[in-house]
Amino acid sequence: PALFEPDRRNSRGWDLAHGPHLAQIEAARAPSRSAHFNAAPRLAGPVRAETAAPRHSPSDPTDLVGWVQEASARDVATALAHARPWNIPERRCAEVLRQAADLYEAHAGEIFALLAREAGKTLPDAVGELREAVDFLRYYAARIDGLAAPARGLFVCISPWNFPLAIFTGQIAAALAAGNAVIAKPAEQTPLIAHLATGLLHEAGVPPECLQLLPGDGRIGAQLTSDRRVTGIAFTGSTETARLIQRAMATHMAPGTPLIAETGGLNAMIVDSTALPEQAVRDVIASAFQSAGQRCSALRCLYVQEDIAPGFLAMLQGAMAELNPGAPWELSSDLGPLIDAECHAAIASHVATARAEGRVIWEGRAPREGHFQAPVAIRVPGIEAIEREIFGPVLHVATFAGGELDRVVEAVNATGYGLTFGLHSRIDDRVERIAGRLAVGNVYVNRNQIGAVVGSQPFGGEGLSGTGPKAGGPHYLPRFTERPAPEAHV
Ligand code: NAD
Ligand code: ALA
Repeated sequence: PALFEPDRRNSRGWDLAHGPHLAQIEAARAPSRSAHFNAAPRLAGPVRAETAAPRHSPSDPTDLVGWVQEASARDVATALAHARPWNIPERRCAEVLRQAADLYEAHAGEIFALLAREAGKTLPDAVGELREAVDFLRYYAARIDGLAAPARGLFVCISPWNFPLAIFTGQIAAALAAGNAVIAKPAEQTPLIAHLATGLLHEAGVPPECLQLLPGDGRIGAQLTSDRRVTGIAFTGSTETARLIQRAMATHMAPGTPLIAETGGLNAMIVDSTALPEQAVRDVIASAFQSAGQRCSALRCLYVQEDIAPGFLAMLQGAMAELNPGAPWELSSDLGPLIDAECHAAIASHVATARAEGRVIWEGRAPREGHFQAPVAIRVPGIEAIEREIFGPVLHVATFAGGELDRVVEAVNATGYGLTFGLHSRIDDRVERIAGRLAVGNVYVNRNQIGAVVGSQPFGGEGLSGTGPKAGGPHYLPRFTERPAPEAHV
């Protein structure tokens, strides 16, 4: 299928630099800043009334965002028993997905408020996330035509907290577009946004038995991924969880049941001595620190050519000093909080070890209340010294000599991860040679390495970073059908 369609349009989004536009957004999200939200299973069968637990904001422990009733084992059984594929004409299915996209946009104020309060997203991050969700809905709606292959039956969609709307919606939209029934299991940290989104999908016309929601933790996911009635799984989350799911499927499911897994990354960027330093610094800052580094695509290990390193790192330090971690509500905040106490403790411990070993190059400041982590840069000999994906605003920095580029590429490939890579260089031959040798999904040249755009930059990794096919690309939808999947990654 064609990668670029001339008549396709991405969401225009919201221009935060335009005063009247911004005032409209603020007015729309104001009522939801103090509202309480609810989450509970959304089932086609009976839901048992259980007590709900309070949910507080990661940026402010006094902000009660809402109440969550997690699914029970019996709710899982109910969802499995009531799931039905969506047998409607393709045109109607596309209309419903487009209607859902319009409803998402109409509820932008409420969604922005909830993304800030439940997931700690700054307003620019929330805008990007809503745009991506809407793009997924419209992109898969547009690709239903010509799919011409039978649905698989029942897809379980398991999503992470760091894109609680966009990835949650993208998986569901693809599975529904292919005609499947869906049971969605959102991350335990972000059920409120998932509940809101599922309500909008139902309001748009997706029948309750075709889309059910089971809020809860990994145990709900484990129950779903061990049931033979499930005919496909879309999973986005950590590499460790993907392995558990693979094992459960091997034991309990029919051979050949597809697992579409999008997992973690240990992503690098090379800045060589021909790079434009001002541009590279700006792109390093965005890649490492936007969303407080809580993106699978985020830059973890920066390689700077040693002859420009002193000047470049001084400039980078200056830019880091300008970063302002703070409440996601405030437009002056560049970084929101980490998602929860567990993630915060893991990052703080990693930084404390580096501090004790004298490897911290620069460290900022962060608010004391809430799960805030100051942006930090840590010196490492190379990417091999980073033992796992560090999911926060921590940039590791290494240097390399002019003749060592091949060694750097080998070290990046040797991590086994293969998600994103950034390259700042003005030597075309070098760019082509390095890009060709990297075993990663998305290579970004002379720009930042986050924020893939649906339809233009299909997103996904290889090796430990995912199974493919790439989300938001032409090979994704067929994988949700009985049609044999093309092996190629785009
Ligand atoms: P996670 O693996 O902890 O959880 C992801 C989902 O899996 C959650 O809904 C969780 O409840 C569920 N789960 C946990 N144990 C399970 C089990 N045994 N069986 C079935 N489901 C189970 O990941 P997270 O912390 O929510 O998300 C962050 C991770 O996601 C990072 O590693 C990040 O790199 C990755 N991620 C990858 C992409 C991508 O496109 N490659 C995008 C976003 C996030
Ligand atoms: N698709 C997200 C990005 O590119 C994860 O940053």
